[in-house]
Amino acid sequence: MHRITVIPGDGIGKEVMDATMIVLEKLNLPFEYIWMEAGDEALKKYGKALPDETLEECLKSDAVLFGAAGETAADVIVKLRFELKTFANIRPAKSYKGVKSLYENVDIVIVRENTECLYKGLEFEVSEGVTESIRVITRKGCERIVKYAFELAKNEGRRKVTALHKANVMKKTCGLFRDVFREIAKNYPEIESNDYYIDAACMYLVMDPQRFDVIVTTNMFGDIVSDLAAGLVGGLGLAPSANIGEKYAIFEPVHGSAPDIAGKGIANPSAMILTACMMLKHFGYLDEARKVESALEEVISEGKTTPDLGGSLKTMEMAKEIAKRI
Ligand code: NAI
Ligand code: MG
Repeated sequence: MHRITVIPGDGIGKEVMDATMIVLEKLNLPFEYIWMEAGDEALKKYGKALPDETLEECLKSDAVLFGAAGETAADVIVKLRFELKTFANIRPAKSYKGVKSLYENVDIVIVRENTECLYKGLEFEVSEGVTESIRVITRKGCERIVKYAFELAKNEGRRKVTALHKANVMKKTCGLFRDVFREIAKNYPEIESNDYYIDAACMYLVMDPQRFDVIVTTNMFGDIVSDLAAGLVGGLGLAPSANIGEKYAIFEPVHGSAPDIAGKGIANPSAMILTACMMLKHFGYLDEARKVESALEEVISEGKTTPDLGGSLKTMEMAKEIAKRI
């Protein structure tokens, strides 16, 4: 039995979580779901966006399945990633047949460092009108994320790892990341490696995404570039992610609570369902994950989607179409 803490969170987080459960239930796996609260609503109710009981439950579970938080995201999901020491945030961006997007055949995996950088939240108001933020980058942090990226490339049979940084300006922090990347790349001669400045990389991503395979980068760049990559393949409605550490794992879509569409029942459940697939693979249920993925691909190629992908189905209707095919 795998003990899974389920945190739907706020806005469309709840909607896509309910939809994903319909799909997961079809698989009849030995999962015990413990539903917990966190997010803007939890803050209002309990005075804490990440209530202690929720964090304690996460620390007892084999995985956390997370929907989305709203304005409290930093105090909930960013905090959870730090507390559970999930140092690697894996964010695939893959083209799906039938989805109108800039390119076909995009297949990129972003490996984002998840515990350091500006997102450590070391921000200060030095004096009236003067603020500062501290960017923490350590050799240990760089080594483990770069190794993770190369091992992922090796295991998934990928050809290339590209590091993104801005070492010409942030000479110490990004310099360390770049140097560690180049050192570790030498241990993987069978895998091609290169590095780009983050700004140029954004242009390459938009104009020529085929030059990327696995991307490894620091926390904030990874956050930004992963939304960009999601935009290349049809938007946030299709972008899943996994946060992996030595002991814990958190699975969450890349998107947030989407207040602009929350409550309308039109959020695309695919990102959350693909996120659940990443969890299935994590537990070794590869066949089940593939079954769900191909059901999803089928539904998308038939145009049975939510409005963001051009269809007219509601969140639950799309999920039911997927579940039907499993
Ligand atoms: P967002 O990801 O919630 O939405 C960005 C845009 O993408 C919106 O137009 C939204 O309608 C669309 N979108 C997102 N997911 C979709 C889906 N499944 N189907 C169809 N369309 C989808 O980001 P935004 O608007 O910047 O932030 C909204 C709230 O979410 C904020 O309060 C923010 O703090 C929070 N947030 C939370 C995150 C988390 O919990 N991991 C991540 C990002 C933002
Ligand atoms: Mg983000």
